[in-house]
Amino acid sequence: MTKESTTLTPFAEDVMEGLQAEKKHLPSKYFYDVRGDELFQQIMQLDEYYLTRKELEIFETHKAAILEAIDEGEPFRIIELGAGDGSKTKVLLKHFLDAGADFAYTPVDISGNVLEILEGNLKAEMPNLRIESYEGDYFDALAEISESPEKDIVFFLGSTVGNFGQGEAEGFLSKLQEFLKPGDLLFMGVDLKKDPSIILNAYNDSQGVTKEFNLNLLDRINQELGADFDRDQFIHYPYYNPHTGECRSYLISQTEQTVTIDGDEIEFRSWEAIFMEISKKYDQKQLKSLADASGFTSLKTFLDSDKWFADVLWEK
Ligand code: AVI
Repeated sequence: MTKESTTLTPFAEDVMEGLQAEKKHLPSKYFYDVRGDELFQQIMQLDEYYLTRKELEIFETHKAAILEAIDEGEPFRIIELGAGDGSKTKVLLKHFLDAGADFAYTPVDISGNVLEILEGNLKAEMPNLRIESYEGDYFDALAEISESPEKDIVFFLGSTVGNFGQGEAEGFLSKLQEFLKPGDLLFMGVDLKKDPSIILNAYNDSQGVTKEFNLNLLDRINQELGADFDRDQFIHYPYYNPHTGECRSYLISQTEQTVTIDGDEIEFRSWEAIFMEISKKYDQKQLKSLADASGFTSLKTFLDSDKWFADVLWEK
């Protein structure tokens, strides 16, 4: 079969497009293979990676106020996009059940394996929880499940929205809003601007786990696309811009080199960068613009004691 007639997987297509661009880039959504999932679990345990701890603090401190803001005495449904292991969400679900709220929980994730484990754990811990998980792409899931008379509350936690660039975040949230009914809610975790050194350390941890998380994508390209990246030729360089709130991570080639991906050659100049990930931090003004631009009205903002992280409640 000639190369032209081979159908590339979306992963291969995105990798080739990104590495052949003038400013090389790779999509961070591909960080999460089995090893990437493990590394992200380790990142969430790091002292420097405050985001998970801060969001958990918000849930533990404000769970009663969160329920009060959501529950109007009618049945509702929580749809969680990218549910993962649900360790933080559990705190809210438990509280909602104990308080007698009438709700169902629909976690959505692209990994069926993750959902199976999550469902097993939640059923063991909360036998009364009504749970119906959905494996697949967020918008495929919403297209299938959004026709419901109950009020929907979409959970999008952990500052995942920060992994979208400005235009992308607006596009994603506008599209999400189109699937919702008037009165439906979005409950979203957002990392906030703060002392830049605290932010930078979160993406440049002393144990090098975040560096490994980035380099793992080169290993994945080697394994899945038959490439020959030499990871030792690259340094990990995160950079925070306090003006825009963007923390951007790069892998930088220390030498002039040629990498081969399934027969295609990719040339690197010395110190040429691959843009790997954006983790955007917001301030209140930027959040207001994001809500306006995507068709939501802000109802409430829940903060941790340091005001480092926010969970916002927005209404369609
Ligand atoms: C999943 N996401 C919100 C993480 C973040 O903070 O941007 C991914 C991550 N990248 C490096 N460390 C953690």
